[in-house]
Amino acid sequence: MTNVRTGPRVLELYAGIGGVAASGANVVAAIDHDEAAHRTYTASWAHPAHRLNLVSVRAERLAAFEADVWWMSPPCQPFTVRGARRDLDDRRCESLVHLLDVVRVVRPRALILENVPGFEGSQAHAAVREALDGYALHERDWCPSALGVPMERRRFYLVATAEPVEPTIPVLPLRPLAGFLDARPDPAMALDAGFLDRFGDALHVVDADDPRAVSACITGAYGRSPVYAGSYLRRDGGLYRFSPAEIARLMGFPAHLALPTDVRRATKLLGNSLSVDVVRWLLGEIGALGRRPTPGAPLR
Ligand SMILES: C[S@@+](CC[C@H](N)C(=O)[O-])C[C@H]1O[C@@H](n2cnc3c(N)ncnc32)[C@H](O)[C@@H]1O
Repeated sequence: MTNVRTGPRVLELYAGIGGVAASGANVVAAIDHDEAAHRTYTASWAHPAHRLNLVSVRAERLAAFEADVWWMSPPCQPFTVRGARRDLDDRRCESLVHLLDVVRVVRPRALILENVPGFEGSQAHAAVREALDGYALHERDWCPSALGVPMERRRFYLVATAEPVEPTIPVLPLRPLAGFLDARPDPAMALDAGFLDRFGDALHVVDADDPRAVSACITGAYGRSPVYAGSYLRRDGGLYRFSPAEIARLMGFPAHLALPTDVRRATKLLGNSLSVDVVRWLLGEIGALGRRPTPGAPLR
């Protein structure tokens, strides 16, 4: 692990396993309160990762990182279609509400927030927009499948900058799923007969040899929740779960990502993370992967 990155300084909040760090951005610090995520983060990335609860972090502490760009991926459960959608009444929104007060004080040069599509139009969304008064806002859903990744992961992104930016996303040719798979299927990932008897008809299955195959979004519940948490793989005459290494490749992480050996834990961390391809594209579009801008100048 070396840390020779240059470019605008990025603060990765709700850092998880480091979807922003994996993009190549010059992350100067990361914060997350979860122990397993923190262990993976510190074993994978050279810059400091702080295990802290953001609900009470002080403005001075975040300002001291002198970051140009703040990245925020707050918990999505208050906004998911399958959850209770309690929005700001969900306690998991408390840290976001606190951070919005901090943002009003520190005013980073740019801020990107990522969440599930259900965030759009929520009370939390309105609170974010209010706190970002004076910034130019650009909001839209992005999916890595547009960048040629054979996996759906549509997410809402809000980009706040000093000057208006209009990030564009190219539509790139689909890369074959086979290129993301382990050399041989892991027998431990094979679906057993009992599982197939119960859920076989409800599974979304993709064929490893199909060059047009696109996996459904693999969420943190994959492996726990049999349906609607991601696709299964038909390969060599059998049916398999995607292995953590395969999910990591689809999410755009490098091979050195130090995931837990426990498959469920690894899958949960990956399923809660970010599409690194989209992060890289978006940061590139706002000029946050290049040289550090001159002080006071807009990022673009
Ligand atoms: C949707 S995940 C973001 C994952 C991350 N973007 C990644 O690349 O892996 C939300 C993260 O926020 C963290 N989190 C939730 N509430 C928090 C809080 N109050 N303080 C610090 N971290 C928190 C969770 O532990 C989880 O890792």
